[in-house]
Amino acid sequence: MSNVKFMSGENIPLEMHKVRMVQKVNLIPVEDRLEAMQDAGFNTFLLQNRDVFMDMLTDSGVNAMSQNQYAAMMQADDSYAGSETYYRLEAVLQDIFAMKYFLPAHQGRACENIIAQTLVKPGQATIMNYHFTTTKAHITLNGGSVEEILTDEGFKIKSDVPFKGDIDIDKLKECINRIGTENIAFVRIEAGTNLIGGQPVSMGNMREVSKICRDKGLKLVFDASLLGDNLYFIKVRDAAYKDVNIKDITREIASLMDVVYFSARKLGSARGGGILCSDEQLYLKMRELVPLYEGFLTYGGMSVREMEALAVGLQETMDFDVINQTPIIVEALCNELLKHDVPVVTPPGGLGCHVDAMEFCAHIPQTQYPAGALAASIYIASGVRCMERGTLSEQRNEDGSERLAEMELARIAVPRRVFTLSQVKYTADRINWLYKNRGLIGGLEFVEEPKMLRFFFGRLKPIGNWPEVLAKKFREDFGDSL
Ligand code: F0G
Repeated sequence: MSNVKFMSGENIPLEMHKVRMVQKVNLIPVEDRLEAMQDAGFNTFLLQNRDVFMDMLTDSGVNAMSQNQYAAMMQADDSYAGSETYYRLEAVLQDIFAMKYFLPAHQGRACENIIAQTLVKPGQATIMNYHFTTTKAHITLNGGSVEEILTDEGFKIKSDVPFKGDIDIDKLKECINRIGTENIAFVRIEAGTNLIGGQPVSMGNMREVSKICRDKGLKLVFDASLLGDNLYFIKVRDAAYKDVNIKDITREIASLMDVVYFSARKLGSARGGGILCSDEQLYLKMRELVPLYEGFLTYGGMSVREMEALAVGLQETMDFDVINQTPIIVEALCNELLKHDVPVVTPPGGLGCHVDAMEFCAHIPQTQYPAGALAASIYIASGVRCMERGTLSEQRNEDGSERLAEMELARIAVPRRVFTLSQVKYTADRINWLYKNRGLIGGLEFVEEPKMLRFFFGRLKPIGNWPEVLAKKFREDFGDSL
């Protein structure tokens, strides 16, 4: 929250916007939610939105846009080549990041495709604080591998370390020595590290990593999809940046990187993506792939309306009162759950509240996907759709064995400026109820398992009849409440 204290001393997340357009949502009875979950193969990705009360699956492409973003969409210049809209967007990006070249792409993973195809040679390693699902898929598709060198603290659920997304510098040095610079495609830092609970990376760490990369001649790639949250945390958790404005922090980060890319479904609250760099040779190499996979250079798969919305959204991201909205709601949700001892990732990060399924469902073996079972149970108990971020989201090892995830999380994402505090409190209430009844939750097994990114389309079934028992208990406890 900006700088508003309450007489009561309570820490209430205060919205710095007002709602001027609404969408009605439905909450269907628990029996219908059970049926919808069964129809969706116990995979929250396969639920239909008409059966969902609060869609907290992701913060991607579902953020509320500002009136200025909508207004900008009306002035878009629709042309295949040379669109004024493109040049407006390019100018905004060059201004914010102070990098010379911009390449448009239709979303974050499209940037990853271009970067991986350009930089990864078969057999090469990429080194990063932590992978993201689509990042890893593109790197492995190009014959590369992923080495994760997060600090050990980053894997701890409960912590008071402010920047859990930091790279372990000793591990980085060891990794470079072991693998050899010639066998390393690039080093990657992911802002607001998604899969470990939306945890930020500190400026000091980025500076150190950048120095090592420059000394060794390694390229440093920055995934800025969750930069908005990360900027907020640098400002509030690093005393040295308390009085530095958001744009200056952004430029300082960009000055440390060779390549910056982002999903505009998150950064800038629009849809699309882009890559920035200052090296002409690298730019020219990546540029060849844009018309092939994305579209002509002045739209790259984005609609001109989205590009206009993005240009405005990116400028608004430089406003502290805009980027603080998600982290303060995430913190409020985490605090409501912590009051009832529900295990959540701390300190609260950006993106969403992450419930630790390993402890919540300690009785479910990892091979039975505890985070997937918890996500399904949260939907049955509340109509809230969240996402599994654990073993289900991993790819199997080459020999077909399960790759057990380091963390089993049910991620309750907080789309930017979409939900109110009462809705957040409702979510917490139902999860707190579920925690009391956690013994009723059982495991899942695959019925249909796709080879790539299986969590998107895979269908599962419960082991036993626990979903029915859970729905019955809900009805007993809540009477005729929805
Ligand atoms: N990098 C990070 C850190 C992401 O969180 C995402 C997407 C991407 C890249 C890929 O971007 O979706 O535009 O292709 N994360 C979404 C999520 C899907 O729900 O966390 P995209």
